[in-house]
Amino acid sequence: MKKIIKNGTVVTSTDVYTADVLIEDEKIQAIGQNISDIYAEVIDASGYYVMPGGIDPHTHMDMPFGGTVTADDFETGSIAAACGGTTTIIDFCLTEKGKSLKSALEKWHAKSSGKAVIDYGFHLQIAEANEEVFMEMPQIIEEEGVTSFKIFMAYKDVLQADDETLFQTLVTAREHGGLVMVHAENGDVINYLTEKALKEGNTEPIYHALTRPPELEGEATGRAARLTALADSQLYVVHVTCKEAVEQIAEARRRGYRVFGETCPQYLVLDQTYLERPDFEGAKYVWSPPLRERSNQEVLWNALKSGDLQAIGSDHCSFNFRGQKELGKNDFSKIPNGGPFVEDRFSVLFSEGVKKGRISIHDFVNIISTQAAKLFGLFPRKGTIAPGSDADIVIFDPNVERIISVETHHMNVDYSALEGLKIIGEPITVLSRGNYVVKDKEFVGKPGKGKFLKCNKFNHDLYKETGQLEGLLKG
Ligand code: URP
Ligand code: ZN
Ligand code: ZN
Ligand code: ZN
Repeated sequence: MKKIIKNGTVVTSTDVYTADVLIEDEKIQAIGQNISDIYAEVIDASGYYVMPGGIDPHTHMDMPFGGTVTADDFETGSIAAACGGTTTIIDFCLTEKGKSLKSALEKWHAKSSGKAVIDYGFHLQIAEANEEVFMEMPQIIEEEGVTSFKIFMAYKDVLQADDETLFQTLVTAREHGGLVMVHAENGDVINYLTEKALKEGNTEPIYHALTRPPELEGEATGRAARLTALADSQLYVVHVTCKEAVEQIAEARRRGYRVFGETCPQYLVLDQTYLERPDFEGAKYVWSPPLRERSNQEVLWNALKSGDLQAIGSDHCSFNFRGQKELGKNDFSKIPNGGPFVEDRFSVLFSEGVKKGRISIHDFVNIISTQAAKLFGLFPRKGTIAPGSDADIVIFDPNVERIISVETHHMNVDYSALEGLKIIGEPITVLSRGNYVVKDKEFVGKPGKGKFLKCNKFNHDLYKETGQLEGLLKG
């Protein structure tokens, strides 16, 4: 059925204006004044913002990690995302050494199809450098609609790949239109510091942070950026947490490298002291890279505002405190790494960012949705309110006050890392391709309604302004 969203304030990354939005056949058909259609259902959005649905470019649903599996799967995780105003997630598909990339994607399709309530895409991990992998990568880009590839520079002996793998992935991505993503921490040095801490009897959650200092994130970020320049390729650094890493990204961009970065809500509002909480509570805040000293928060906000960081991902990777985080009770290195943020990413950025005057409402839409759509080949289908775009829309109350709590969240996890945080703003109604997934704050979607999104290749035209590259391998 057709819908008209009436009298809302339409917000995009460039404009704000009062208008009606006509939706038909899952798409935005028209935007204008006084649109009427006797066959359309009218949704009154007076006093509310009408914004593109959030795009979360960083989730881990139904992912095996640290001897267990994340608490949220594609069903519970996507329901929580939708309730929080996110209408697209891009999830990380893990690969297994010695097996084809295609087989990994098949596994991730099996986890997600029939379950997701909103649309979703995949990034694909590259774990090893060999002929088969680099023969298959172009095929994955052309045929599978998966165009972004993730390298872990940390988690030694588990997910970590070496620099040769990173470099060859960058070269292959450059040749075939992929975007390379890195978890940038120096895993070898972290491994040494971790073993040393445990030998010295330091087993508490805080040692998770102390064995992964920010210098090791800065070093890995700079290394990845330089290898990107050498390969004349493009890089997206996930979950940037600190000054040391932001400086490397900013410097790379000044030099004209195609280097992009994401931070996460947790790094904007929490700090390292949370890991010191007594009775093992610190384990609730164990993820990688770790929470940092509070002074880094301002650096991250400034980078979001200046454009040195482009996006915000939740890095949603939820583990229950009871039974899962507890696996590391006597050894911090055995605490499964990750936290639950897919539901709160949108509203926390709005409240802490827009309401506190740190970013503009346009910056907000850009960071929460538009930039991710552009970087990952989904724009303008996703990421904006425009005729022809999918009707992925959040009707958002920018004034309601509320408190984040495990009591009210939809994530399938027994704690909130943001428990008690007072925020302003809440999604009232959320549409996924024109269909209600949230109506008057209640989830009304259906598992299986979310579709797999084939992402387009990395679009150089969107980033022409990044200028000249060293391009040592050009040709
Ligand atoms: O601790 C985290 N972030 N867990 C998820 C995996 C990753 O590194 O993104
Ligand atoms: Zn990571
Ligand atoms: Zn992650
Ligand atoms: Zn509910």
